[in-house]
Order: sequence, then structure tokens, then C-alpha cells
Amino acid sequence: MQASPRFPVLLVEDRDSLRAMLRHTLEAQDHEVVEARDQAEALDRIREDRPAVVLTDLRLPVGDGLGVLRAAKEVDPDLPVVVMTAYGSIQDAVSAMREGAMDFLAKPVDPDHLLLMVERAIAQRRMQTENVLLKQELAERRGAPRIIGDDPHLRQVSQQLVRAAGTDATVLLLGESGTGKELFARALHALSPRADGPFVAINCAAIPDTLLETELFGHEKGAFTGAVGRKPGRFELAHRGTLFLDEIGELPLLLQAKILRAIEQKSFERVGGTQSLKVDVRIVAATNRNLAARVAERQFREDLYFRLSVFPIEIPPLRERGTDILMLATHFVDKYRRELNKTPMTLTQAAIDALERYAWPGNVRELQNCIERAVILCEGDTIQATHLNLAALPPSPVVADGPWDQIDLSGTLQDALQRVTFEAERRKLLAALHEHAGDRTRAASALQVGYRAFVQKLRDHAIQN
Ligand SMILES: Nc1ncnc2c1ncn2[C@@H]1O[C@H](COP(=O)(O)OP(=O)(O)OP(=O)(O)O)[C@@H](O)[C@H]1O
Ligand SMILES: [Mg+2]
Repeated sequence: MQASPRFPVLLVEDRDSLRAMLRHTLEAQDHEVVEARDQAEALDRIREDRPAVVLTDLRLPVGDGLGVLRAAKEVDPDLPVVVMTAYGSIQDAVSAMREGAMDFLAKPVDPDHLLLMVERAIAQRRMQTENVLLKQELAERRGAPRIIGDDPHLRQVSQQLVRAAGTDATVLLLGESGTGKELFARALHALSPRADGPFVAINCAAIPDTLLETELFGHEKGAFTGAVGRKPGRFELAHRGTLFLDEIGELPLLLQAKILRAIEQKSFERVGGTQSLKVDVRIVAATNRNLAARVAERQFREDLYFRLSVFPIEIPPLRERGTDILMLATHFVDKYRRELNKTPMTLTQAAIDALERYAWPGNVRELQNCIERAVILCEGDTIQATHLNLAALPPSPVVADGPWDQIDLSGTLQDALQRVTFEAERRKLLAALHEHAGDRTRAASALQVGYRAFVQKLRDHAIQN
């Protein structure tokens, strides 16, 4: 996340002579430069070289500068983009700035102006980076959990987290089991202006449906047999703080409606109560389910889904986080050997290789357990591959090669089955429509499905024909 000189300036310009001139100007001031001639090349460079600033022409032979701008913002919303535009098309530059460009340069480009702008962009970026780091440091000092890892994907997530923390927006944390959703939810709270208020968590999957409503909203005395006193719910307890709705995908439909109302109106009633209570609560929800698919299956309310996904943050699985595996492993080794009062320990190269080869279906939690076990087993000061006991575990799906190994079977049994049947259904629908030249009646009868059900399914899969 550091800015130049380690991270280059990306120059997107199709005219060779102009590109050479600009490169020369920048290199003369010790800026490293990478080049692209069109939108597609620019995207590759953004992903691979992680430029500190993007300088792009608005007109390109393939795609255009606005496309580059949007792609850059998608990869990293804070990446400064400067657009270059020919004299007479300032209007285009203005639209680019409306879409998030930092500034524009009129052609012919004045070298001093160019340098000034690039340096300003780099300074701005450095400040943003430092800001993120400072905020994290401050939050850690206030007891926020420490998030280990410096993989670019994870850093991007951390940046999103910091950005979301400053607002009261509802945040939806998505990610496989054990990727750190709860950890991120706590960090989000600690980074937010509500840090001094309570962080209240409720796991929607762990509490029986019958109790969930009173847990969330509380109850009045005599609301039901056994309700001897009045009990506040988690919504009330989280007043002026953050309410973490964990495993939101498991929330029963009836409660989904009630939660939606509570979020929208910032008020609710206790079970057995008639009086509306006002609360000031920031909602953070998490799930390892595919909520969009749950919506299509009518298991999750679409309106609640939209309300929750104002600010979705996806935490990548550990196997996609390259260097984080080793960094986390080293962190956990040190943590557990201290807890167990053991001497400092290192991992052998073979142990490191084994860690890096493994697919970690249980993500960070699994890695943490694996290292804890290894530290307990290890009697000297080096952890061997055998201490990790990874060979006995299923091999990485990444190296498997049957057609079934290409299918995403992660998550719970129900998740995997739903994902597979949903996809199979979609393919059958499309094939039937294709075979019958888009005639819905014939396609439905070929599949032996009623016409109305067929149309409903098309809608569920957002298939238009
Ligand atoms: N980046 C990280 N740095 C340090 N510890 C981490 C990191 N990510 C996860 N952990 C640790 O891994 C464990 C699992 O994380 P967490 O409970 O937040 O995952 P989760 O996504 O909520 O999992 P689940 O879906 O199973 O509820 C926790 O002990 C957490 O502290
Ligand atoms: Mg969790």
C-alpha cells in the first residue's frame, strides 16, 4: 500500500511518440513507469503492477479512458486517476471527474504540470495509506482485534473496512467459514465513532427459532408463559453501538420482516409489548451463504437483502491470500508457544511448503487450530511438517482434476447441494429454451413443469428470453 517509488505510475496512451515523451518526463524525476495502450492492457497493469497513480488518455483504440477509470476504481476506489484530454473536449474531462477522476490534464501536456499532478496524486495516496494505518493502530490501542495479513486482497478489504467504519451504513460481511468475519465486525466497530458504545453479537444460527425473537427484541413481563420479568433484547443492548447479526442467512422469514422494520424505522416493540422503542444501532451482518441464491429460493427476503447489502465486504478465502498463510502461521506459532510457555519456535521449510500447498477449507480458524496442535506436539524449537499433520487431511481441491473437482462444494452440505441444484436448474432451463427456440410453453412441457412454475423459475434465475 506504499506509494512510489516502489509502486509505479501507469501511463495509458495509444500514441507511441506521446507515450515516450511522457515516460521520459516522469523517469527524469525518478518515477517508475509502466505503460498500456488500451483499456484491456491498462486493466492487466493495474492488477499486476499496483500503480500508485493512473494517467490515462480519454480516447483509446480499444475501450476508453472512462472505462480505465471505472476499472481502476473497482480494483481500488482510492487509486488516483488523472485523465488526459484533447483541447476542446473539456466536457469529457468534467464527466470523468464526476466519475471519480482526481484531476485532468489538457493536451498538449505541459511537463511541469504533469509532474506536479503526479506528485500530488502520490502524496494524496500516501496520506490515505497512512491514515488507514494510523486508524488501525489507534483502534488496536483501544482494544480492537489485530488483523494479520498483507495480501493485496486483504489490504483492500481493510481499506473498505476503514471507509465503512466512518459511516453508519449497514455492512454485510461475506466469506467462507473461518475467514474472519467476526474479527472484521469487531474491528469495524472499534474503528467507528461508536467504538465507546457496546458491540453486541447474536448468532442467528445458534439460537432456536422460538427464542430468537425474544433474544433480538426482548419481552415484556407476562409476554408468554415463563416470562416472569421484562427482558431487554439485543437491539436495545446495542443502543449507541453496533449490533452484529452473525449467520444472517439462517434467519427465519418471519423474523426477517421484523428485523427489516427495525432497521428501517430504527424502532421496534418488545415481544408482548405495544410501545415502540427507539434505538440508535449500527447493523453489521455476516454470512457464509450465497444470499442472492437464498433470495432466488425465496428463503431470504429480497428487500432485506438489498437493505443489508448497502456496503458489502467480501473476505477472500485463505487459499487466495498467498503470503498471508505464512504470516498468520508465524503469528500463531508465536502466540501459542507463549501461551504454553515454550521456547521460540520456527517452521522448517518442509513445514512451510506443506502449509502453503494445503487448501484450507476451514480458512484461518483451521490454520490456527493446526498450529496450536503443532506447537503442543513440538518438543524442540523447530516445527516439522509431521507436527502439522496435514497429509492426513483431504488434498487441495486446487490440484484435483475430475470434473466434479471443478465444482465449488464449499460450505455446509446444504450450501453445496443448493449451489449445485440451482446451477443444474439454470442450465436445464436455458437448454430447454434454446431447444424450443424460446417457446416457453413447449420448453415447460418438455421439462414436465407447469407453465407458471416454469416462468417463475425463469424469473428466479433472472433469465430473459
Ligand atoms: N486476519 C486474521 N488475523 C488474525 N486472526 C484471524 C484473522 N482472521 C481470522 N482470525 C482468527 O481466526 C478465527 C476465526 O475467525 P472468525 O471467527 O472471525 O471467522 P468467521 O468468518 O466468523 O467464521 P464462521 O463463518 O465459521 O463463523 C478467530 O479466532 C480469529 O481471531
Ligand atoms: Mg463467525
